[in-house]
Amino acid sequence: MPADLIDGAAVAKKIRQAVTLRVDALLVRDIRPGLTVILVGEDPASAVYVRSKEKSCIEAGMRGETIRMPASTSETELLARVDQLNHDPRVHGILVQMPLPKQIDAQKVIRRIKPEKDVDGFHPVNVGKTLIGDADAFAPCTPAGVQVLLREYGVQTSGRDVVIIGRSNIVGKPMASLLMQSGETADATVTVCHSRTANLAWHTKRADILIAAAGRPELVTGDMVKAGAVVIDVGMHRVADPSTKSGTRLLGDVHFPSVSLVASKITPVPGGVGPMTIAMLLQNTVRAAELYG
Ligand code: GUN
Repeated sequence: MPADLIDGAAVAKKIRQAVTLRVDALLVRDIRPGLTVILVGEDPASAVYVRSKEKSCIEAGMRGETIRMPASTSETELLARVDQLNHDPRVHGILVQMPLPKQIDAQKVIRRIKPEKDVDGFHPVNVGKTLIGDADAFAPCTPAGVQVLLREYGVQTSGRDVVIIGRSNIVGKPMASLLMQSGETADATVTVCHSRTANLAWHTKRADILIAAAGRPELVTGDMVKAGAVVIDVGMHRVADPSTKSGTRLLGDVHFPSVSLVASKITPVPGGVGPMTIAMLLQNTVRAAELYG
């Protein structure tokens, strides 16, 4: 039997509606939650994500602003911009879109953002808080969104084997942090696989919950998945496809046609994890305004 679809777009809509109510409550107190995104350079995929973040903020009644800087921007110039935003009381959340041009040290920029405005959850203070299970943390949006999807679809995580493919600071590592905690939608036994893992399929076949965040199109095929597993696809790759009107199509890290025949539940691409990332970003920003506004 084909897997049930995990509808990230529907869950994200619910979260955005709840965020809008929280925004309304803040507006009564004369606080308009504000997110400022900095986009350096002209990477087309980043430009699409950033537009969508700004639009979602405005739809939720928040202040959404994008600062566009040229690809030639120096590290010093970018740090100066971050400093300005750190001191701007209208700005509750700061997000510097990754990747950054190679002359800029991304870690240095992330460390410059005030942890209280780090709605991406990338600052070492928030990374550390997420790891120790501190409720104060801003958890990174994509893994936090995956955890919400698991909860909303009643996927039991306690005592289950979760295998994560990918060890990035944005997804893989914080995903492991969240699911290994004690508590709701956690308590899992987590394995993190990566590009140097010997015999990837041996690990993935043991997974009750398989989370693919490797950044490789259709890496996970049906033969690598245990029957009945829950499969979460964090990948997003635009590939050429002359058979479509746009000439391109989106693929995940999971080969959907084969894996959906084996899994019990699966996220589609698009419409799975992607919409959750933005919803969680809005949620983190409204929370920043509530806590520090
Ligand atoms: N690039 C890809 N995903 C993200 C994200 O979640 N935050 C930022 N800042 N950059 C990204």
